[in-house]
Amino acid sequence: MRTGSGQADDLTAVGQQAEPAVSSLCAATRLVTWHSDLAAWVDRLGWLRTLSDRLTAVLGPVRERHQDNLAVELLHGGRWAGHPLHPALSDLPIGLWAGVMVLDAMDRDPAPRRGIDAAGKLSAAGIIAAGATALTGLNDWTVSNDQDRRVGLFHGLLNTAALGLQCASLGTRMAGHRGTARALAAASLMVTAAAGYLGGHLVFTRGVMVSRVAWAAGPRRWTRALQEADLPDDSPTPVEAEGRQIMLYRHGGSLYAIDNICSHAGGLLSRGAVAELTVTCPLHGSRFALTDGCISRGPASQPQPVLPTRIRNGWIEVRGSQPAPRRPASGRTRP
Ligand code: FES
Repeated sequence: MRTGSGQADDLTAVGQQAEPAVSSLCAATRLVTWHSDLAAWVDRLGWLRTLSDRLTAVLGPVRERHQDNLAVELLHGGRWAGHPLHPALSDLPIGLWAGVMVLDAMDRDPAPRRGIDAAGKLSAAGIIAAGATALTGLNDWTVSNDQDRRVGLFHGLLNTAALGLQCASLGTRMAGHRGTARALAAASLMVTAAAGYLGGHLVFTRGVMVSRVAWAAGPRRWTRALQEADLPDDSPTPVEAEGRQIMLYRHGGSLYAIDNICSHAGGLLSRGAVAELTVTCPLHGSRFALTDGCISRGPASQPQPVLPTRIRNGWIEVRGSQPAPRRPASGRTRP
């Protein structure tokens, strides 16, 4: 006869038998989750949080004071480039320093030589490019948030270390210590690769610098968003229509509807101020025209989608993208 304790023993046994399977599952899972674990580990570093907070306290007010400065917007890439500048520039030091490695690997002359050779020139060009890249990265960093800000700072610190190693490599190369220079250049490239990986995590996993309205579509038909009587004049009002977040605004009898999620990093435009039919994002100050979504100030690089509106039976209705018109079958003509 089975007793309660016997059942407990059985359950324990089942648990014990299951344990190896669970741990092997965990080991397998860890193989595919190490990258997010790495970012979480970086985010937990106490000293990094402190440094991030201190830098934010210093650089935040500086950025706010200069956010109308054209140079600040150009460093983001902004509306003229249509893309952030930093990822494009970051290819330069990586490519140039990889070239240093190739030239070093091909150089079979063991004799010590002073001065700057072809590898040294690539190293120096990469150092200059890295300086420009760091400037754009720092500028972008000031408009990042929370975990992204801390991982971004770690990414920047790694890149700074890589830059230091490359400078040391160039110095020793010019002094004629080729072996040391090669080792330092290789270490620099490895640290750059690690930093690049974290940069990739920010973009591809966290969506930093990716347009937050890239998939904004719909509603496909005219959809009720709000009763007309419930929309106050001159007051940004958030509504939702078929899952799409929209900001409604009425001024002088005209109605405007614009995507409420800021294309830059997801700030809610309805919480921002509107002046002269331009809304300012409360997070980092991008400005969008309510009439056509055009950017009048970055850091956003993508315009904000606007939606057509109409009023039917006391309701404000909005409509998003339309299905593509059907093409007539080839060889047939419309009647
Ligand atoms: S979220 Fe950055 S400007 Fe709007």
